[in-house]
Amino acid sequence: MDPALSTTLGALHREARRRLESAGIDGAAFDARLLVEHFTATTRAEAISDPDRMVDAQAVAAADAALTRRIVGEPVHRILGFREFHGLRLNLSAETLEPRPDTETLVDAVLPLIAQMVERHGTCRILDLGTGTGAIALALLAAVPQAVAVGADISDDALATALRNARDLGLLERFTATKSDWFGAISGQFDVIVSNPPYISSAEIKTLQKEVRDFDPLRALDGGADGLDAYRVIARESASHLKAGGIVAVEIGSSQNTDVTGIFHDAGFPVVTALRDLGGNDRVLVFARDGKA
Ligand SMILES: C[S@@+](CC[C@H](N)C(=O)[O-])C[C@H]1O[C@@H](n2cnc3c(N)ncnc32)[C@H](O)[C@@H]1O
Repeated sequence: MDPALSTTLGALHREARRRLESAGIDGAAFDARLLVEHFTATTRAEAISDPDRMVDAQAVAAADAALTRRIVGEPVHRILGFREFHGLRLNLSAETLEPRPDTETLVDAVLPLIAQMVERHGTCRILDLGTGTGAIALALLAAVPQAVAVGADISDDALATALRNARDLGLLERFTATKSDWFGAISGQFDVIVSNPPYISSAEIKTLQKEVRDFDPLRALDGGADGLDAYRVIARESASHLKAGGIVAVEIGSSQNTDVTGIFHDAGFPVVTALRDLGGNDRVLVFARDGKA
């Protein structure tokens, strides 16, 4: 493919797939399709029904540059600049984690509990600690029109992206972004505290896949010496920010169930539900002060 020349859509798709496959990229066919569709502003249906349509040289060059970035290891959604989460399109930026499908397990775990709270009290106040793109808070707000949420993060870049996502999704009126070191700048009490904190041990970071290690922000990954630093803070300080009958729900690493359950138990929060992700790994723990949700 000569990036200086126009070509047909079908030829561009074939060449993109060939390049990623020969570079040994996992999921080459899928990534090639996403990149070509995005940079040519075409759909899958158009690639099938109209493979001979011409793609201009500018779009060919943009697709070519995107494929080169993918070949050197940049994840496909970082190149696109957005990722789908719980049916929402979320913009990414340098200091936001790419939201993962595993985290949808957390959203699905708390949604019925939030619906019950709304039924009882007419509203639900949510705190999302380490909000990143706003993924968890915004997915919950999109599903429950009566809920309001505060998204807290230590990163200004992440907070700006979360606000942009809230605006794009029409959720800005019910979403507040707050710069805070965990609970440091948080005031008031909440019905639901959710968090997908950094939970990888510092030593493990260098063993992660290149796509994660080199492109997800370190601050979103590094959970300290044993990966549990953030859980200790959240467990210790949740009590003073939780309304009576409230719940705390966290995402965990697949081997952290016992440790995190113990940390919250010692802080006065027995576990009420433990859930696995679609891969069958322990992924979400829900806690309540009275052991009932
Ligand atoms: C694993 S990411 C989760 C992002 C998002 N909630 C999601 O699930 O996609 C953890 C987030 O915690 C934030 N974070 C790290 N340390 C923090 C701290 N001390 N206080 C508040 N947020 C922090 C990071 O900036 C990052 O956005």
